[in-house]
Amino acid sequence: MHLILKNARLVTMEEGSTGYTPTEPCYLLIRSGLIVAMGEDLSTLYGNTPKEWSDCPVLDCAGSIVTPGLIDPHTHLVFAGSRTQEFEARLNGESYQAIAQRGGGINSTVASTRTASVDELIELALPRLDSLIKSGCTTIEVKSGYGLTLEDEAKMLVAAKSLENHRRVSITTTLLAAHTVPPEYQDRADEYINYVVTDIIPHVAKHNLADSVDVFCESIGFTLEQTERVFAAAKAHGLAVKGHTEQLSNLGGSVLAAQYQAQSVDHIEYLDLAGVKALATSGTVATLLPGAFYFLRETQLPPIEWLREFNVPMAIGSDINPGTSPFADLQLMMNMACTLFRLTPEEALRGVTCHAAAAIGQKDTIGQIRKGFKANLAIWDINHPSELSYQYGLKGLKQRIFAGSIEHVA
Ligand code: NIG
Ligand code: FE
Repeated sequence: MHLILKNARLVTMEEGSTGYTPTEPCYLLIRSGLIVAMGEDLSTLYGNTPKEWSDCPVLDCAGSIVTPGLIDPHTHLVFAGSRTQEFEARLNGESYQAIAQRGGGINSTVASTRTASVDELIELALPRLDSLIKSGCTTIEVKSGYGLTLEDEAKMLVAAKSLENHRRVSITTTLLAAHTVPPEYQDRADEYINYVVTDIIPHVAKHNLADSVDVFCESIGFTLEQTERVFAAAKAHGLAVKGHTEQLSNLGGSVLAAQYQAQSVDHIEYLDLAGVKALATSGTVATLLPGAFYFLRETQLPPIEWLREFNVPMAIGSDINPGTSPFADLQLMMNMACTLFRLTPEEALRGVTCHAAAAIGQKDTIGQIRKGFKANLAIWDINHPSELSYQYGLKGLKQRIFAGSIEHVA
């Protein structure tokens, strides 16, 4: 399967490049889902095989901006139930932590998710997925974490991966069994971690249900010691690790994650300088989640200046979930990252392309328009890539290319 794009103004987001000025209108050649060549002179791009391309479809981009397909590196896309009453409770003065401590919060979504079937979870996730796709996504990370039993965590991961059979999108899955202590283990967090480490992780690894393992390291989540037990078990089973760290306080979860070569640490509003230096050394990505910052009305800003100074790559995720970030739109997150965290629009675009790819361990195959990379692309109705962060709900996505084939957007 071949495809040629013509008159495409490419914003390649290539690693090591600075600036994000679009190229002059040019050609891009795609074969079997991979980018094989790009440039202004078609005959040179054909190389020795002009015949190979003679009958292939040509998409005229008419000077449109083409970026890598966007990557959402942090979502809780699969869940059942609603937390709208907690939103009201928070508006009446109750805090997120207080709601969690009285058995609401994550555990309220656990109760609803446990009673849902795989098919029901898929049905509920599809509108959220469609919204992310409409915002330009071609790859989405999805976490478990609302099951908290072996069967229910496995069910969530199966539902997440099955989304690939319903939409043209790539899904990467993360086991988040250490999201909170489930009610049946109340006041027995260490015993729950025993169960995660000896039962859930080995099962998930054996059946290839997840690509990585995440932990909520926080006062309302798990301690540093408990987090380390989960990381060690994940590594022992050949799974990558990542963390919800330094979201509401600084427990040192990011430094620990760096010691385990985590792919990413996420939220990190309370990350300190030592934490930033640890990330720089381990090559761990700092994933910013401005939707949760906004929705919880957090005031502690993530340490953007230090992350820049130490060249820690910054990714941006939607964190879509019913409690802290009910937002299924990555362009909205780009705007929030700029307005709330003062990222530049170029940093925001890196955050949802090449750096997001690194955050999910796929930096050598997606997130850049580059020879040999997957032909996952977004074609936009804009004149300059800064518009992706500047505006919201106005001009948007025209077309997506997924695995080398064209998809029109409604
Ligand atoms: O990323 N911080 C922990 N986990 C989610 C929230 C989950 C929930 O409240 O349901 C987050 O913010
Ligand atoms: Fe999250």
